[in-house]
Amino acid sequence: MTGLREKFAEAFDIGVSLGGRLPDDYTPAEIALIDAQFSVVTPENCMKPNAIQPREGEFTFAQADALVAFAAAHNKRMTGHCLVWHEVCPAWFFLDGEAPASRELVLARMRTHIHTLAGRYRGHLMGWDVVNEALDDDDGYLRDTAWRRAIGDDYLVQAYRLAREADPDCDLYYNDYGNEMPAKREKTLRLLAELADAGIAVPAVGIQGHWVLDQVPFDEIDAAITTFAATGRRVMITELDLSILPWGKSAGNPYPDGCPAEILARQAEQYAALFRLFLRHRDVITRVAFWNPHDGRSWLNSFPYNRTNYPLLFDRQCQPKPAYAAVMAV
Ligand code: G3I
Repeated sequence: MTGLREKFAEAFDIGVSLGGRLPDDYTPAEIALIDAQFSVVTPENCMKPNAIQPREGEFTFAQADALVAFAAAHNKRMTGHCLVWHEVCPAWFFLDGEAPASRELVLARMRTHIHTLAGRYRGHLMGWDVVNEALDDDDGYLRDTAWRRAIGDDYLVQAYRLAREADPDCDLYYNDYGNEMPAKREKTLRLLAELADAGIAVPAVGIQGHWVLDQVPFDEIDAAITTFAATGRRVMITELDLSILPWGKSAGNPYPDGCPAEILARQAEQYAALFRLFLRHRDVITRVAFWNPHDGRSWLNSFPYNRTNYPLLFDRQCQPKPAYAAVMAV
């Protein structure tokens, strides 16, 4: 069966994020889906700070090791996600006893974390999301995070340098959400320029792509890809999904037992329009990755509250949805 990865092989890689433990937590149907459809794997959670080093000096690699082994056995390439993030980062990184840790202590911990993690998977990963989601959602430039408060604004430069030391050959990415919109687009350019001034090459920018049905900002996505590509960089869509429910709590759980055909049809049209847009930029887009393999595995069933969502190309039985046929037909 020709799948997504073969259909788009000449244009860009098709990726997927995988959570849980591979292959034990997955059914044969899910493994077959992954085999047929995707060529690059991103760890959904198992390489994040809380998963890798829950307590200082206590490294837990079992799940990440299993994913790396799975990817190798199934001929998938891998990206690393993520070395430094303000979310799911244990508090101990920033504490010295009860008191806030000094810049030197937090830098030393950043060094140990990045060297140990990126060093372990050196040679296995195409690239790392080094500092994830570092830009402010509001008027500010850099997001106010524990890393920044402890180290200072140069924490990004420090992190990218450490990643480069730990794995001299992989790409160092910058990945964020909402960076297709004008405000974060500008902040992204500023950050890339500052990193370049510090001698750090970031050859590719990740646009996550957590979009909502009927609200996909097609023109902004188009402009963002053009803008990032104009700096000589490549673009990756790193976490694609198309929620059929709006953000926020107000939507309740309207479709617990199945998604209406009319909504699936609109989702199909909008997914197809997205892939037409991506194909127009095939010279600069290197990867289009879905955040989770099928609807039943989507993080959007539990965030921001528990409900049944239908954001991906495959349903809970791993069967193709109308959106899959539409994407395969572009
Ligand atoms: O596994 C534990 C379980 O043992 C526990 O009982 C349960 C109770 O809360 O939590 C489970 O852990 C959850 C974990 O996902 C695994 O499912 C965490 O609470 C939950 O916070 C965590 O959420 C992840 C989130 O990042 C935070 O790390 C999502 O799965 C993951 O999809 C999401 O991914 C992020 C990207 O990394 C960055 N961009 C945005 C994207 C979506 O938020």
